[in-house]
Amino acid sequence: MLFDSAGITQENYRIFVDFLKIKLGHDLGEGKEYLIENRLNPVCEAQKIANVNELAREIKINPYSALGNLVVENMTIQETSFFRGPRVFDNLKKYIIPKLINENVYSHTIKIWCACCSTGQEPYSIMMLLMQNFPQLENWNINLLATDVSENALTKARSGIYSRFEVIRGLSTDLKEKYLLETPDSQYQIRYDLRQKIKFQQVNLLEGFYALGGPFDIILLRNALIYFAPEVITGIFQKLRGAIKDNGFLILGESESIMGKTTMFNLPIEGTDYFTPTPLP
Ligand SMILES: C[S@@+](CC[C@H](N)C(=O)[O-])C[C@H]1O[C@@H](n2cnc3c(N)ncnc32)[C@H](O)[C@@H]1O
Repeated sequence: MLFDSAGITQENYRIFVDFLKIKLGHDLGEGKEYLIENRLNPVCEAQKIANVNELAREIKINPYSALGNLVVENMTIQETSFFRGPRVFDNLKKYIIPKLINENVYSHTIKIWCACCSTGQEPYSIMMLLMQNFPQLENWNINLLATDVSENALTKARSGIYSRFEVIRGLSTDLKEKYLLETPDSQYQIRYDLRQKIKFQQVNLLEGFYALGGPFDIILLRNALIYFAPEVITGIFQKLRGAIKDNGFLILGESESIMGKTTMFNLPIEGTDYFTPTPLP
C-alpha cells in the first residue's frame, strides 16, 4: 500500500483523542491535528499504512495491538534534561534530604519514586545529588524507583547512554567526568555502579500505585500532568496521597500546581516546589 499522507478527518481525529484518553489519560483537546500528523505520519510510513485516517481505523478496531503501542510511544512527549528545574534540586539538597536523614535515622532508608522519568536524566540527577552531597547515605538503603509508560524511554534510561548534546544540557564537566564514561562512538554512558542504584519500571499513571513498594518519602511527578485530563489528574492525586508517607514530599514541575485539583496536599511554602500531604481522615 502506498503512503499518501492525507490530512486527518474530524471523525478520525476524535478516534485519536479518545484513544489517548483511554490509554494514557491525556486530554489532547481541539485543534491538534498537526500534532497527530507530524508524529504519526512516520509511523504510517514505517508500518506501510496509507495514512493517519487508515491508522485511526486500525486502532479503533484493536486499541491494544502492537500498533496501538506504537501510537502511544509516538504521542508521548519525552522532553527532559539533567538537573532540569534547578530549584527542585536546591530544595532537595538544602531542606528535604537533611530532614529525611534526621527523621529516618533508625530505618536508614529513603524511598523515592520518580514518576514519568522519561529517558532517565531526572533520576540519575537525583542519585548524583545524593552521592555528591550526602556521603553518609552510602550505608543507607536508598530505594529510587523510576517509572514511565514509554518502554522506548525506559530502554534508553536503563542503558544510560546519552549524546554529547544531551550531556551538556545540564551536567557540569565535574559531574560528567565523575559519573559518565565516553563510549567508542563518542557518546556518554552513566557508570555501571550508578545505573545499578536505580530501578526502572514501566508504570502507567492510570494504574493503581499499591504494588510499587511505597509508601515513599519523596514522589517526583514533574512536567507530565500538563498532558492529562482534569478528572484524571484528580484521581492521580488521590492515588499519590495513598502512596506517600504522611511526612513525605510531593514534587511537581516548577509551573505546576495543585490549586483547584486536590485538597490532599498543602500548597508549598513560597520559594519551594514541594507539596506536603494533608492528614488523612
Ligand atoms: C515531558 S516528560 C517529563 C520528564 C521528566 N519528569 C522531566 O521533568 O524532565 C513526560 C513523561 O511522561 C510520560 N507519560 C505520559 N503519560 C503517562 C502515563 N499515563 N503514565 C506514565 N507516564 C506517562 C511520558 O512518556 C514522558 O516520558
